[in-house]
Amino acid sequence: MLKKTTVFLILLMHFVHADPSASALENSQKKALIFGVSGQDGTYLAEFLLSKNYQVHGVSRNPRLAEELFTIKGFKITLLENPDFILLEGDIVNSTSVIKLIDKVRPDEIYNLAAQSSVKQSFETPEETSEVNAIGTLRILDALQLLSLTKKVKFFQAASSEIYGMYPGNAPYAKYRFHPKTPYGIAKLYSYWITVNYREAYGIFACNGILFNHESPLRGEGFVTRKITQAAVKYKLGSREILKLGNLDAQRDWGYAKDYVEAMWLMLQQDEPDDFLIATGELHSVREFVEQAFGELDIEIVWKETGIDEIGVDKATGQIIVQIDSDFYRPTETTPFVPNVTETDQKLNWKPKTDFRELVKIMIEADYKREKSLSHNQ
Ligand code: GDD
Repeated sequence: MLKKTTVFLILLMHFVHADPSASALENSQKKALIFGVSGQDGTYLAEFLLSKNYQVHGVSRNPRLAEELFTIKGFKITLLENPDFILLEGDIVNSTSVIKLIDKVRPDEIYNLAAQSSVKQSFETPEETSEVNAIGTLRILDALQLLSLTKKVKFFQAASSEIYGMYPGNAPYAKYRFHPKTPYGIAKLYSYWITVNYREAYGIFACNGILFNHESPLRGEGFVTRKITQAAVKYKLGSREILKLGNLDAQRDWGYAKDYVEAMWLMLQQDEPDDFLIATGELHSVREFVEQAFGELDIEIVWKETGIDEIGVDKATGQIIVQIDSDFYRPTETTPFVPNVTETDQKLNWKPKTDFRELVKIMIEADYKREKSLSHNQ
């Protein structure tokens, strides 16, 4: 009996090893390399690609800090404990680091999400912003050229709606009408064109995703949406700290980051590389975002006074909730416009799943849960 089982096991092992479909399956696992894995988009993209059976190599300037962030943000099990997720140290401001990483991983797809992502900050550190957001992209593309991988690796570049900048009012949408109004937008425009150039010059399958604002509970606290949802939740839980904001009438096209990472991936699955606008096609003002966020918590805001003196007041109690602080104004501001997403819809077959209301609700619920557990643990 023992003999029979042993023979069976040996045969089975032989069969498994000899099975061409088994090894084909092993070899068919795609490898992705994500620069900027610990940010909002990197985190969601890593999770998404793992769900598509990719081996994901995520690059961070500080992997130990990235691990802490993933743990705090609830991605310990889905990312850190997944054997297909590999965290690597690297920095796109250093070409040697970029070349070594690409050579070591030999990925099928590269996603460049690494950036100095604050538009406001780019006015204070324009040089650093350009180093990362412009030349960083060139370093990756050039590494593909140096390593003779131009025909082997697909490349996604996170371009930004900030490249449009000053969009003349009522002008019809035009794909190439660029007039960036911020050092951030100017750096991103360089990386947009260098991506196009390496596609045209060397035949790299390189795509720009021109991403409009995309938010989530993972959004950094300096961005206006997260600043508002956090303040709304804290107010609901008893804080009376006033929320100080800049331009309440600034408008943005806000989508949900988790939806947007799918579009990034889809671009690299097309037959031909191209550039796509990723947006909802709907504009909302900062003021509307405030009203919607507090409204989710049953707090109605009424606006009083005008200009720099404008305040948002709790209708039920008269308590001041919002004040204007000119420090949050920018030297120059991008004009909002409604992007034409027909091409994205038709060619890429992608549409956002989450609308403005749902997005605000998702962010409020997550912040409420987090604040509650923080106050519980104190
Ligand atoms: N951050 C911030 N803080 N913005 C404020 C505030 C405030 O207190 N008050 C008003 N705003 C206005 C800004 O002037 C801007 O018009 C709008 O709110 C959104 O600002 P941010 O949330 O900081 O985002 P952003 O539009 O500048 O840039 C984001 O989106 C781009 C397009 O996708 C960033 O994620 C960029 O990295 C990204 O490229």
